[in-house]
Amino acid sequence: MIRSNIALIGFMGSGKSTAGRLLATRRNKTFLETDALIEDRACMRIEDIFNQFGEERFREFEAQVVAQVSAAADAVISCGGGAVLRPENAALLKASSIVVFLDVLPETVLWRIGPGSRIRPLLEGVDREARVNELMAARRPVYSAVADFTVRTDGVSVDEVVSIIEEELDRL
Ligand code: S3P
Repeated sequence: MIRSNIALIGFMGSGKSTAGRLLATRRNKTFLETDALIEDRACMRIEDIFNQFGEERFREFEAQVVAQVSAAADAVISCGGGAVLRPENAALLKASSIVVFLDVLPETVLWRIGPGSRIRPLLEGVDREARVNELMAARRPVYSAVADFTVRTDGVSVDEVVSIIEEELDRL
């Protein structure tokens, strides 16, 4: 299968959506976002799915949406931070997409996910710093293993992140 999609993976606050939108425009591809497609499918906001049905139900929706976006062509896919944790999701994305890991330091995440940013149910009502550190430590090896290449996003503008992604894509 020709991998005509580019999937952006990484932690909450790594800039997948902003970089993804710009990358899609520059590469003339369709922009898809798993979280937005889950909200469409469930007719509910992400935080309401978590609150009313729990994380497992959210992950079921997410798996359905990963299958949906993996069947797309010529898309830039911004994947929710937990989307590649199920091996079957990771396999579908790898088969259909060049997978790019946007890496970010915990302190950058904590700074970006401040008041005013959208609600992340996994980071609500907990010690955020501890939770971010714990989730990041568990997930970074998974993101790295799934990705074709990694781009660091700390202290780098969205424009630069996208340019680095494009250079790496051209090298592949
Ligand atoms: C999640 C990340 C969120 C969203 C949900 C769960 C996660 O997406 O899918 O809150 O498990 O890391 P973003 O990575 O776009 O914030």
